[in-house]
Amino acid sequence: MTQPPISFLATIPMDLGLTDSVVVITGAAGGIGTACARAYAQEDARLVLADLAPDRLAAVAGLVPGTQAVAFADDLTRDGVADELIGAAVARFGRVDIVVNTAGVYHATALPDMGADEWRRIQEANVTTTFQVARAALAAMVPRQAGSIVNIGSVAGRTGGLSAGASYSTSKAAVAGLTRSLARYAGPHGINVNCVSPGLVETPMIADRPPSEVASAIGATPLRRSAQPEEIASVIVFLSSTAASFVNGVQLDVNGGLHMD
Ligand SMILES: NC(=O)c1ccc[n+]([C@@H]2O[C@H](COP(=O)([O-])OP(=O)(O)OC[C@H]3O[C@@H](n4cnc5c(N)ncnc54)[C@H](O)[C@@H]3O)[C@@H](O)[C@H]2O)c1
Repeated sequence: MTQPPISFLATIPMDLGLTDSVVVITGAAGGIGTACARAYAQEDARLVLADLAPDRLAAVAGLVPGTQAVAFADDLTRDGVADELIGAAVARFGRVDIVVNTAGVYHATALPDMGADEWRRIQEANVTTTFQVARAALAAMVPRQAGSIVNIGSVAGRTGGLSAGASYSTSKAAVAGLTRSLARYAGPHGINVNCVSPGLVETPMIADRPPSEVASAIGATPLRRSAQPEEIASVIVFLSSTAASFVNGVQLDVNGGLHMD
């Protein structure tokens, strides 16, 4: 195949097309969620920031200058809260263009010690919340025949629990599977649904992990380091932008090569 002329390449747009987009971010007070809030704010998007923690959430909303940001503090595992979140976004900004589902909890209880209630709590926190927020978002997006949803998996969903428990690994594999079902449903309506699966990222989520465990994960990562949350946020922003308009149903690994598919 012949290469396109340089003049053609020079016309490929670099504008991500996110100005004035209405972006809902769950887990917005967390490490990756906060980095996403900053990244979308740089693109002049309008933000609805959701998290359990009202104080941390208010601090993040305050970090986002020059943009309109709304804080929504509630527990997304509670029945009806996902619908309230999307309803609040529509009430404030008239529509929802993008949803980023970063809310989640880590869990490392060893398999023999894990009770069924504990297991269900992790699936509820990581899978059911993602499903409920996506379902509510699609109800708002489908009539407009446009939108983008980015879910967050994990390398643990690819490899099974190395240090993470089976509960967490299973929940993240489920998020990737859910993403594919959502993408099949939403695609015909002009809506992309994708999943970003990070490796080790320096956020509060890993702050309590034993140093030997962190060192071992870094040693197994060909880039020999953990990621900064901004390195995950930039990929999330890309996937939700016009630059990735034909990307749908992927699980995109952002793990420094820790796992290669
Ligand atoms: N940090 C890592 O190494 C890593 C690696 C792979 C995947 N991930 C995933 O990335 C996502 C973001 O993680 P992070 O590292 O930023 O963690 P984090 O703990 O800093 O942030 C998670 C945020 O989600 C919020 N949250 C949790 N449950 C909630 C609920 N029921 N309702 C509302 N908010 C809730 C928390 O309050 C917290 O602010 C998670 O889904 C996590 O599983 C993280």
